[in-house]
Amino acid sequence: MCGIVGITGDPQAAANLIEGLRRLEYRGYDSAGIAVQQDGAIVTIKRKGKIQKLADAVDLDRMQSSCGIAHTRWATHGEPNQINSHPHVDGKVVLVHNGIIENFQVLKHALEEKGHTFISETDTEVLVHLVNDQYNGNLEEAVRRALKLVEGTYGIAVMHADEPDKIVGARRGSPLVVGVGDGFNVLASDVAAILAHTKQVIYLDDWDMAVITPEGVQTVDIDAQEVDKEIQEITWDLDQIQKGGYPHFMLKEIFEQPDTILDGFRGRVMPEAGDVKLGGLQLTDWELVNIRRIIILACGTSYHAGLVGEYLIEEYAGIPVEVEYASEFRYRSPIIDPGTLCLVISQSGETIDTLEAMREAKRRGAKVVGITNVVGSTIARETECGMYIHAGPEIGVASTKAFTGQTTILTLLTILLGRRKTISAEAGMEIIEDLQKMPDKIRSVLDQSAAIKEIAKVYKDHHNCLYLGRGINFPIALEGALKLKEISYIHAEGYPAAEMKHGPIALIDPNMPVVVISTRDSSYEKIRGNVQEVKARKGKIISIVTEGDEEITALSDHVITIPRCRAMLTPLLSVIPLQLLAYHIAVLRGEDVDQPRNLAKAVTVE
Ligand code: G6P
Repeated sequence: MCGIVGITGDPQAAANLIEGLRRLEYRGYDSAGIAVQQDGAIVTIKRKGKIQKLADAVDLDRMQSSCGIAHTRWATHGEPNQINSHPHVDGKVVLVHNGIIENFQVLKHALEEKGHTFISETDTEVLVHLVNDQYNGNLEEAVRRALKLVEGTYGIAVMHADEPDKIVGARRGSPLVVGVGDGFNVLASDVAAILAHTKQVIYLDDWDMAVITPEGVQTVDIDAQEVDKEIQEITWDLDQIQKGGYPHFMLKEIFEQPDTILDGFRGRVMPEAGDVKLGGLQLTDWELVNIRRIIILACGTSYHAGLVGEYLIEEYAGIPVEVEYASEFRYRSPIIDPGTLCLVISQSGETIDTLEAMREAKRRGAKVVGITNVVGSTIARETECGMYIHAGPEIGVASTKAFTGQTTILTLLTILLGRRKTISAEAGMEIIEDLQKMPDKIRSVLDQSAAIKEIAKVYKDHHNCLYLGRGINFPIALEGALKLKEISYIHAEGYPAAEMKHGPIALIDPNMPVVVISTRDSSYEKIRGNVQEVKARKGKIISIVTEGDEEITALSDHVITIPRCRAMLTPLLSVIPLQLLAYHIAVLRGEDVDQPRNLAKAVTVE
C-alpha cells in the first residue's frame, strides 16, 4: 500500500530517495516524507499531498547525506496530514512502515506508562517508540526485540542516529526487496524504486530482516539466525516504468495491450498441435484430467478476469468453477475437496486478501496455482506453481493491461484443460489461430480512441452510468463500470443485462447513459431485447457491437465497433473501448488518472 525506500552509500541519497518515491507513488500518495543521516543526527521532512510537495520542500544542498529512508503513505490510521506522515521519529530512531500494527493500542498504553508521549494518530508511531525503548546500542537487536512484541503486518526501514550508514529492514506481510549495489545498497517495497540503481535484488520473506550498509547486505531471521538468500536479476527495464511519450501511464498501458497479450501467449501456444504448454503449471496430464473443481480467488479487476475464466473453463473445458472475492473466502469455512484446484489471480502478487486466501486454501489442502504479473512477488513465490502474464510493470492504479493479460492466460488454461477433455486438436488449432490475430484486432479498437473521446465529451458531466452485458461479457460490464468509478468518480454499476428489469430499470431516464456490450454471439437476440427496454425509457445507449452490426446500431445513440472474433476471445476486445471511455471521461473531468483518490495499486492492508 504505502511505499518504502531506503538507500545507503549514495552521495546523492536525498535526491535518489525522492526519485524512488516518485516510482512508488502509485502505491499510495496522500503524504510523503524523507529522513537522512547528517553529522550524527537525523533530519526529517514530511509533507501532506503528493511527492512533488515533498520535493519542493527539500533543499538538496542542505540535505547532503549518503544514507536515508523515505515513504509515501496511503492512510490507514489517522487522517492524511503532516503529523501522521512517515518517517516517524522517537529520540534517535527514525522509521518508515507499511502495514498495520494490530495491537498498537495495547503497546501504546504500555509505552505511555513508561513515559513515552505520542503526537500522531498512527499505529506506526508506536513501533518507533517500541524500537527506541528496546534500544541498547545495537539497532538490529532493538528492532528484533520490538517486532517480537508486535501483532500485525509490516515492511519497515529503520535508522539510528548513532549508527551511521546503516538501515535495518524487516518484513512480515508487506513486501520488501533489497537492491544489491557496488558500494551502495538499497531497500524498497517494490523493485520499481530499485531499478534505477541496480538489477540485482534479494526478495525478503516474512520474518526476514536485512541489515544494509554501503559495504554489504546481511539477511537474518527474527531470531538472529543468518538466512541464505539468492540474489536474483530483475528483467524489467527502466524504460518500461516510464511513460514513453504518453500523457498518462494508464493510456500507455491501454495501448501496450496488443504487445502484452502477445507476450502472454508467445511461446506457450503450439499451433501445429492445437495445444498449449504452460511450463509453470507443473501438473501432469493425469492431474489435469482429474481436476474436479476450480476455485478462483482474486480482488478488484483480477476478480473480473476470474469471472471471465469461469465462463471459459466451464463452457470449453467442462470443469465447474467458482470465483470468490479473496477477502470473503479467507474468513469463512470453504470446502476444499480432493481434486480442487485453486487459481489465485493477482497483478501485483501482493494483495493481502488474495495472499491470505491463498494461504488458507493451502492449509485446507488445495493445489494452488498463481497467475501474477510481478516476478518474485509474494504470491508468485508462495504458490507451488503458476504462470506469469508477462505484461511488464503496470503503474496506472486502474488496471488495464493486467486484465487482458490475465484473460489471455485463462484462455490458454482453458485450451489446455479443454484439449484433455472435449476440445479436438483441430478445434484447438482454430482457436490458437484466432488468438494469434488478437493483437491486430486490439489495435483496430485502439484506433477508435479519438471517436471514443467524442462520446466521452457528451457524458463527462453525468453522475451515473449503467453497464450491461450477458454471458462472457457480463464480467466486462463489471470491469467497465469499475474503471469509470475508479478514475472518474462517476457512480457506475455493471449488471447482467437481463437483471436490469429486476431493479436498475427504475433508474433509466433520458439522463441515464447505458453502455451495452452487444456483440454478435448466442445472446445477441436477448441483448437486443434489453437494448429496446432501455430505448423505450429514453435512456442513452452506447453500444459495443461487432463490425457490420445493423440492428443494435439502429437502436443506439453511439456505437463503438469491435472486429469479428470467436465468442471465447471477445472479452479481449470488448474491454478495450470501456477502458478508453473511462480514461477519456476522467481526463476531460480533469482527474488525476494515474493516481485516483483513495485508491492504491497494491493493497497490502486488509
Ligand atoms: C487494487 C487496485 C486494482 C486491482 C486490485 C487487485 O484495488 O487498485 O486495480 O485490481 O487492487 O490487485 P491485484 O494486484 O491483486 O490484482
